[in-house]
Amino acid sequence: MSMRFSGQVALVTGAANGIGRATAQAFAAEGLKVVVADLDVLGGEETVALIQAAGGEALFVPCNVTHEADVQKLMARTVEAYGRLDYAFNNAGIEIEKGRLAEGSLDEFDAIMGVNVKGVWLCMKYQLPLLLAQGGGAIVNTASVAGLGAAPKMSIYAASKHAVIGLTKSAAIEYAKKKIRVNAVCPAVIDTDMFRRAYEADPKKAEFAAAMHPVGRIGKVEEIASAVLYLCSDGAAFTTGHALAVDGGATAI
Ligand SMILES: NC(=O)c1ccc[n+]([C@@H]2O[C@H](COP(=O)([O-])OP(=O)(O)OC[C@H]3O[C@@H](n4cnc5c(N)ncnc54)[C@H](O)[C@@H]3O)[C@@H](O)[C@H]2O)c1
Repeated sequence: MSMRFSGQVALVTGAANGIGRATAQAFAAEGLKVVVADLDVLGGEETVALIQAAGGEALFVPCNVTHEADVQKLMARTVEAYGRLDYAFNNAGIEIEKGRLAEGSLDEFDAIMGVNVKGVWLCMKYQLPLLLAQGGGAIVNTASVAGLGAAPKMSIYAASKHAVIGLTKSAAIEYAKKKIRVNAVCPAVIDTDMFRRAYEADPKKAEFAAAMHPVGRIGKVEEIASAVLYLCSDGAAFTTGHALAVDGGATAI
């Protein structure tokens, strides 16, 4: 994959694993400097090592996206290290529910909404002023196909991902004339630790996961990374406020 990027610096949250790590690697492979943010220190440092081993430039910043002070420090460290921020991929997210709505707990609600909604909002709150000051940039937030429709037994998660799309679209309109584009990516089931935790224990669930995608398989992390890079690239200059399903046809049914 090769795309045109006017910017030089990308920031990825949840970059210690899965979709975030693959996207950080993809940005670095395009020659961008990458800030790797996550609360998983070992995983974050491993992402940086992988990028450096491939000849890229990256920096790990420990960050819990639910903590305002951490998020502020993350943006400050980005500017201190690389002088600017051009692209932000707000991707850190969790899923911990196992039952129907009435079986959920307040702790689950607060945890899921905290990372998936407050985390994305806080990151954008401190990224947008940087992009504004520089005269432009692009943000991509990780929603989900669960942000586009129902997700039985994942109702809090679905609500959180609908909220991510609401934040994305609203910010896109607010900053449209400022050369800042804000989009969301909506993966279906992707082969990551999150998927394995949810499906691997039960082979029937894994079969069902493959079958729910018309292409007949679950997705790969690289397939989300390439969509994120496209949304950040100059080729997507006229695309903002969009929630892009990358789902093997799942939402077309
Ligand atoms: N895997 C899927 O099937 C799938 C489908 C749709 C959407 N998503 C979304 O994609 C994103 C990435 O998920 P993944 O599948 O790569 O999961 P993952 O569990 O492999 O990676 C998530 C990363 O987020 C980090 N993280 C969690 N809480 C954090 C916090 N408070 N602060 C900073 N980092 C934190 C974790 O340490 C981890 O490195 C999530 O937003 C998830 O909801 C995943």
